[in-house]
Amino acid sequence: MTIAQTISKYSKLLKSSSPLLDTELLLAFTLNKPKEYLYTYPEKKLTTSQLLKFKKLYRRRLKGEPIAYILGHKEFFGLDFKVNKDILIPRPETEQLVEETLRFTKSNKILSVVEVGVGSGAVIISLAKKLPRAEFIATDISTKALSVAKYNAKKHKVKIHFLLGNLLKPLTEITDFQFLISNFILVANLPYLETKQLNNPQLNYEPKTALIGGPDGLKYYREFFHQIQKYKLQPQAIFLEIGYNQGAKITKLAKLALPRYKITAKKDLCGFDRIIIITK
Ligand SMILES: C[S@@+](CC[C@H](N)C(=O)[O-])C[C@H]1O[C@@H](n2cnc3c(N)ncnc32)[C@H](O)[C@@H]1O
Repeated sequence: MTIAQTISKYSKLLKSSSPLLDTELLLAFTLNKPKEYLYTYPEKKLTTSQLLKFKKLYRRRLKGEPIAYILGHKEFFGLDFKVNKDILIPRPETEQLVEETLRFTKSNKILSVVEVGVGSGAVIISLAKKLPRAEFIATDISTKALSVAKYNAKKHKVKIHFLLGNLLKPLTEITDFQFLISNFILVANLPYLETKQLNNPQLNYEPKTALIGGPDGLKYYREFFHQIQKYKLQPQAIFLEIGYNQGAKITKLAKLALPRYKITAKKDLCGFDRIIIITK
């Protein structure tokens, strides 16, 4: 079977939202070539072992496994990140979190950036690439997630101090914690789905600890604001990605924890509150 015939046959059977692209990506991955190769050599015949390898990957996609896990990487903010089942696949909508944070840094001098719940590292590494003078600290509750983030930081040649632990708590254990208390910005995309939203089969493959924020989705943001008060943190600003229906509730939590701060909700392309910005 030729490359063109394989694409034509298998893309028709795939019930994903992008069957043609998925088939192309799987075939290019099988052949260890860039996607353009498929259209440069459409008449090239696949060997038996190439076809077997392709079918094996294709069956995983057919069952619903996200393409990023099959390929082992995902693009985010123009950078390529290693991904695996230990971390949430970085979402395109999370790029807005990076954009809003960068917008703030244009008119404010930033010394340190702390990301809570770093996952693959996509957010903080994208920030680190654009802010070479700042210092970066990232926390996560998952050792496995931290090891993926460390790999990605090394791959993109950025220095990030990784800490294992519950939300902001690991910060209190670092030696220059007193210095950090007000000289930093906080960024987080904590698990915010409601338990009942897990019914979506597309999410079956991703770690639940990266997705679910308890019955109302707010468990982690509640604890996050509680810790801000408990540790008397006064960040220059906070940037949070939230669920589509959580704008008012998170604003309320933020007002209680940081009464002197200004709180703004930014909408996503669908018109839902997506990013909460909290500034002094
Ligand atoms: C929604 S994912 C976000 C990952 C990444 N920042 C991104 O935007 O693609 C949430 C991350 O928070 C981590 N997490 C969950 N509970 C945590 C906790 N109590 N303390 C620190 N990190 C936590 C998960 O392991 C996961 O990596």
